[in-house]
Amino acid sequence: MQAFADKTVFITGAAGNLGRATAVAFAREGARLALVDKDQQALQAARDTLPKDGQFEIFATDLLDPTAVSAMVEAVRQRFQRLDVIANIAGGFDMGPAVHETTDAQWDFMMDLNLRSLFNCCRAVIPVLLESGSGRILNVSARAAKHGVGHMAPYCASKAAVITLTESLSEELKHQGITVNCILPGTIDTPQNRAAMPDANHATWVPLDAIADVILFLSSAAARGVTGAAIPVYGRS
Ligand SMILES: NC(=O)c1ccc[n+]([C@@H]2O[C@H](COP(=O)([O-])OP(=O)(O)OC[C@H]3O[C@@H](n4cnc5c(N)ncnc54)[C@H](OP(=O)(O)O)[C@@H]3O)[C@@H](O)[C@H]2O)c1
Repeated sequence: MQAFADKTVFITGAAGNLGRATAVAFAREGARLALVDKDQQALQAARDTLPKDGQFEIFATDLLDPTAVSAMVEAVRQRFQRLDVIANIAGGFDMGPAVHETTDAQWDFMMDLNLRSLFNCCRAVIPVLLESGSGRILNVSARAAKHGVGHMAPYCASKAAVITLTESLSEELKHQGITVNCILPGTIDTPQNRAAMPDANHATWVPLDAIADVILFLSSAAARGVTGAAIPVYGRS
């Protein structure tokens, strides 16, 4: 028996490294998938790596456009009727000057990419979960949320805010059958990280499928008692 047969899973950042790995893991367990990312072609390429016969639909949307996000969530609802799991994976990294030399644009870039995108998505999708009286929300923070690092303040602050947003959501939704948790990956073993840090010991980095496994656990019936958690997934990094 597949663990997510008859479940619909909504994944943002679905064309990226972790989004693709998470989609593969949920597809293997029988889930229907709503795959969301910015670029239509990249999304289609991600869809093409999944089995042809599954119920997997792509929804190209800029998560920074609240009107587009509302329309996309309505299109997802029309297609699948209900949602069971929301995996908010879209986000990214940047580093730059010291705080006193950081521009508004550099600050806003990280806050938008990691926090506003998540806020826009949660605001649009939570009413769909409330209708069914159940659901799982998984957000992606980062180890850097726990301890500020020089030249990474906008990134660290945006990922720290993902933890507090997760906690607030979990308080608001815990009596509605909806759990809300976040994971804190360490350095993930991705092609981009390997290119940026060729001399690092890649064997200690956390593999994509190991993070996807944690997302599946938090989405499963076994994790029904877990909400408001921020779970480190560092591997040996
Ligand atoms: N990689 C790491 O070592 C690491 C460590 C800790 C935490 N994380 C977090 O883990 C998550 C996944 O990381 P990853 O390595 O899989 O990143 P990734 O490969 O860059 O994937 C992120 C995806 O999100 C998409 N996206 C960005 N902004 C968007 C928007 N406004 N609307 C729709 N889609 C948008 C990106 O599209 P574009 O490429 O077109 O912008 C990309 O396809 C992120 O939240 C990241 O911060 C990563």
